[in-house]
Amino acid sequence: MPRYKILVEEDELPRYWYNILPDLPEPLPPPLKPTGEPVSPSDLEAIFPGELIRQEMSQERFIPIPDEVLEVYRLWRPTPLFRAYRLERALGTPAEIYYKYEGMSPPGSHKPNTAVAQAYYNMREGVERLTTETGAGQWGSALAFATNLFGLKCTIYMVRVSYEQKPYRRVLMQLWGAEVVPSPSTRTNAGRSVLEREPDHPGSLGVAISEAVEDAATHDDAKYSLGSVLNHVLLHQTIVGFEAMKQLEGVDRFPDYVVGCVGGGSNFAGISYPFYYMKVSGKAPTDTQFVAVEPTACPSMTKGVYTYDHGDTARLTPLLKMHTLGHDFIPPPIHAGGLRYHGAAPTLCLLVKHNKFKSVAYNQVEVFNTAQLFARTEGFVPAPETAHAIKAVVDLALEAKRRGERRVILFNFSGHGLLDLKAYDEFLSGKLQPYEYPSEAVAKSLERLHSLYPWLKL
Ligand SMILES: Cc1ncc(COP(=O)(O)O)c(C=O)c1O
Repeated sequence: MPRYKILVEEDELPRYWYNILPDLPEPLPPPLKPTGEPVSPSDLEAIFPGELIRQEMSQERFIPIPDEVLEVYRLWRPTPLFRAYRLERALGTPAEIYYKYEGMSPPGSHKPNTAVAQAYYNMREGVERLTTETGAGQWGSALAFATNLFGLKCTIYMVRVSYEQKPYRRVLMQLWGAEVVPSPSTRTNAGRSVLEREPDHPGSLGVAISEAVEDAATHDDAKYSLGSVLNHVLLHQTIVGFEAMKQLEGVDRFPDYVVGCVGGGSNFAGISYPFYYMKVSGKAPTDTQFVAVEPTACPSMTKGVYTYDHGDTARLTPLLKMHTLGHDFIPPPIHAGGLRYHGAAPTLCLLVKHNKFKSVAYNQVEVFNTAQLFARTEGFVPAPETAHAIKAVVDLALEAKRRGERRVILFNFSGHGLLDLKAYDEFLSGKLQPYEYPSEAVAKSLERLHSLYPWLKL
């Protein structure tokens, strides 16, 4: 610690994560088994360590961050909060735009906030190896980075289309000591059965999750680690919101809007839930609005159905109550790999269902146009996922301009795009296409889900 103290005063870091479960508008519907019975903590022991299961179900509002985790966080935290003066000027908006720059972390995104915590708890409970899936490679590189620091091995099932599109993320994972397997693979029953049906399957997060869960469940040395969706993952990200709150306090501001992109929901929850806590506990000075942004190619919350569904394609995970496009969703190969997930975090979906949070969707062409505007004004190149949030921020700032309102907009700059330049190259050469996932495809998937689980209709 004295090592890092030169750079960052210890007291600048929050000491607690925020658990939203006690503050939801209704109790969170529990995860269910395929029989319709609730999952018990012991059902999860094959794949998660005890402390993470405890956090997953905890009603404790504030969970202390262990010193060993804080020590690693100090490598890059607190992350800077920037005001986007140049973007504001380019838009001619009276709005103030602030962004929390999570691209500062060694892997380049918000993902290590939970990867470090998960690797730490697994190490403490004697686990030797973690398995996981990755889409864009951001989550995989975060877990490779974290497991390396705590002396664990790491096996990463990487969605094949990203494995092929993003070789540099694979190299990063390997550099930090992880084994990277393109998914679907022949390693697992889940992967083999997909390949038998469709040898050229491009892979999806759903399939990769099935493979990683199966690997952990069938090997005693290993547990599984998830980069988003679950309560314990989202709560580890709340350090982002607490830091942002303190930084905004320093300039006497509180956000009118908090915006983030949503794959599984973790970076958006991380920045927004602490402000939601201020709002529900009557401590917020303004009526803060929360805006979740997703791609029109994978519109879980804007076109999906709020029901129980599996988190993976092979139906190995419990059923979670969430907005879903159906677990057999095969995503179009858009560039925001980290947003191509058929569901989203149950806590976030519950807030959307109760209209406490709003969701919007944009296509990748308008998103990349905005990313270019951002890069040309603020300089930083956003990850394609992050650029979805920026598109919504720009729309809010332009609305503020039309109304002549001085609004404070905060968004999570969830990751940099310096390893996504191939996607930018395609954008610049005019090859990107807008894509809308059809509602009929959602309806068909949901019909299949209902025929599997007739009790869902009750
Ligand atoms: C930079 C970045 N932002 C956002 C996301 C979406 O995930 P989540 O919704 O869990 O934050 C990802 C996922 O890989 C990502 O890499």
